[in-house]
Amino acid sequence: MKVDVLLGLQWGDEGKGKVVDYLAPKYNVVARFQGGPNAGHTLEFDGHKHVLHQIPSGIFRDKIKNIIGNGVVLDPVVFKKEIEGLAKFEIDLKANLFISKKTQLILPTHKLLDAAYEKAKGKDKIGSTLKGIGPSYQDKIARNGLRVGDIMAPGFEDRYRNLVGKHENTLKHYELEYDLAEVEAPFFEAIEFLRSFKLVNSEYLINKSVASSETILAEGAQGSLLDIDFGSYPYVTSSNTMTAGACTGLGVAPKNIGEVFGIFKAYCTRVGGGPFPTELFDETGEAIQKEGHEFGATTGRARRCGWLDLPALKYAIMINGVTQLFMMKADVLSILDEVKVCTSYKLADGSLTEEMPFQLVDEEVEPVYDTLPGWKVDVTGVKSMDDMPQELSSYIKYIEEATGVPIKIVSVGPDRTQTILR
Ligand code: GDP
Ligand code: IMO
Ligand code: MG
Repeated sequence: MKVDVLLGLQWGDEGKGKVVDYLAPKYNVVARFQGGPNAGHTLEFDGHKHVLHQIPSGIFRDKIKNIIGNGVVLDPVVFKKEIEGLAKFEIDLKANLFISKKTQLILPTHKLLDAAYEKAKGKDKIGSTLKGIGPSYQDKIARNGLRVGDIMAPGFEDRYRNLVGKHENTLKHYELEYDLAEVEAPFFEAIEFLRSFKLVNSEYLINKSVASSETILAEGAQGSLLDIDFGSYPYVTSSNTMTAGACTGLGVAPKNIGEVFGIFKAYCTRVGGGPFPTELFDETGEAIQKEGHEFGATTGRARRCGWLDLPALKYAIMINGVTQLFMMKADVLSILDEVKVCTSYKLADGSLTEEMPFQLVDEEVEPVYDTLPGWKVDVTGVKSMDDMPQELSSYIKYIEEATGVPIKIVSVGPDRTQTILR
């Protein structure tokens, strides 16, 4: 069967983990195609709250193959911790988890380089999660990287030393104190641990599933506005977070992509630096942050909050070919009397545009808003669309009409069960 893709349409943290976990029973395979430990995907079910970073969010469901694809950058140390954190769930990880041999490895020095580059940027820093994402993708593209499959080859340690030597040369140009031995010991322990998992040519695994009657869900990390090509560059991550990234990050041909599920919050958040036209700096923003518990799942940093941005949403729908929308965190806006939606941007010359400007960073972009009535009722217990407050139904219809894409899931709370199918 074709590969369905689920991805974030904003600046990440839309609720991808929750929805992948919710949809997973319909699938035989769940595969991560890009990103790495910068991701934090939260799942809540049966009284548990669990954050996954590199392991696909299908892992809690029975009999699903979970694949870490070639497009991912994997930190073995984080991987080991994640696996240990899953011990209490008694999942047969050795049977259900597959890692592409082509997945790039994050070395301890990649994290040091990340810190050094960020520090050197000063006030212009990206606000990276400092997980070594940028430097490891940099090595991949520069054809220096080490891959998961390399850990099985006899010369691995020599190749590792060689690359670390290059990194240390670079680090000399930055003011960063570090103790390599201290970070290397857990790294080699984790490499040994990684060797005991199923390291595979995952492109064959996936394409065999495509050729058979198996169903496959590709799980994105980050969001379209953090895409290396189409996001708010340079305040982006270092991978293609869009549908096309699922093709290159798993080895799936474009003709084998099926549905594209685009997931967005009923409002907008961003963590880290960079432009955010609809950001709120007032008590409404604070109220949304508090009600939505908007603190990063990976770094704990406060997430900046703002109104839903339709030009940005439509842009993300366009570049991804989104076929279904899922709206998350509708319950959070219950606290507000009215809800605003940005419909266009007013540029410095006074003109209006519904397109994303080339340089969101420098352009003076003033959002133009529509105001809609709030719903002011607790919707966290709502189980069907029939019981939705009329104002929330109107909000949903408004977005569907503006985007031309149906909203098929409305999420009204963090738990698996707080999910309404339309
Ligand atoms: P991801 O990175 O896209 O998987 O999203 P995160 O897990 O980083 O952030 C989403 C946060 O919102 C998590 O804490 C989720 O438990 C929570 N969440 C997801 N859906 C809903 C929802 O509909 N309502 C509320 N209140 N919280 C939600
Ligand atoms: P999930 O998958 C939100 C942000 C960082 C920073 C920029 C670059 O949980 O949605 P990086 O570490 O990639 O070099 O950081 O991207 N960022 C995320 N923001 N959710 C994420 O992942 C993110 N992953 C990276 O805050 O601004
Ligand atoms: Mg997250």
